[in-house]
Amino acid sequence: MVRLPFTSSTRSVPEAAQVPRHIAIIMDGNGRWARKRFMPRVAGHAKGVDSLREVIRTCLDRGVEYLTVFAFSSENWRRPQDEVSFLMQLFVKSLKAEIERIHRNNIRLRVIGDLGRFDKALVDLIQEGEALTAGNTKMNLSICANYGGRWDIMQAVEKMIAASPGVTSGFSEDDLAAHLALGFSPEPDLFIRTGGEKRISNFMLWQLAYSELYFTEKLWPEFGEAELDEAIASYQGRERRFGRTSEQLAPGNTDSSESGHA
Ligand code: IPE
Ligand code: IPE
Ligand code: MG
Repeated sequence: MVRLPFTSSTRSVPEAAQVPRHIAIIMDGNGRWARKRFMPRVAGHAKGVDSLREVIRTCLDRGVEYLTVFAFSSENWRRPQDEVSFLMQLFVKSLKAEIERIHRNNIRLRVIGDLGRFDKALVDLIQEGEALTAGNTKMNLSICANYGGRWDIMQAVEKMIAASPGVTSGFSEDDLAAHLALGFSPEPDLFIRTGGEKRISNFMLWQLAYSELYFTEKLWPEFGEAELDEAIASYQGRERRFGRTSEQLAPGNTDSSESGHA
């Protein structure tokens, strides 16, 4: 049996803090932002890097411990070749430009996804950035690139089976969760998607089980400190029941059973 630092929200009731410990964001709407300004779609991606910088800074200020952003999905390879190459170059350029600032701010960087399809130069840069920041403790920044929620579950299943040769049954949720690419982090408290679409697009399928979902029409290049604070305020107005009743959560009620499973 694997012991995780954080148990699954379906197995036990996690602590819910005022400020979300973990925020996960689908940064969507770059292309539309650019098209509205009669610019090529890729100009929106370039502008999106500024939004990410501001969101990272705001998360640091507010005491968010984990920030996970979706930068490139396993399905985004289906885009026109020019746009894919621009995104790869932008990734390289932004990593080079930002890694010192990330390190100075005591942020630990991880790039999450199947790196096998990236150029060696990009993979080297990612590994250098991860190694440089490996000892940092203020915030965990995870950039999901060539990531897909189903890919993650599949690779975790394979690792879980490989870790217990001959075992074919009796696995627990925690056994699997330990092998997820984001297995080091608690599940997101708050999920944000910019750009108006109301879908998950294969992001963190396992971990979003009990996350609070926040969708905004704002396009990613328009999203910054004020918009993030609005999302956090919306989160603070939610009642996180994790399967229990409202009455059980009332102050003074002793019947707010802590364990998810009897
Ligand atoms: C999100 O913006 C960035 C990536 C998926 C890489 P989009 O490029 O999807 O922007 P829209 O949704 O077309 O406006
Ligand atoms: C999701 O956005 C992936 C990222 C933001 C990286 P998409 O724009 O690719 O999602 P769909 O295609 O609208 O679902
Ligand atoms: Mg999109």
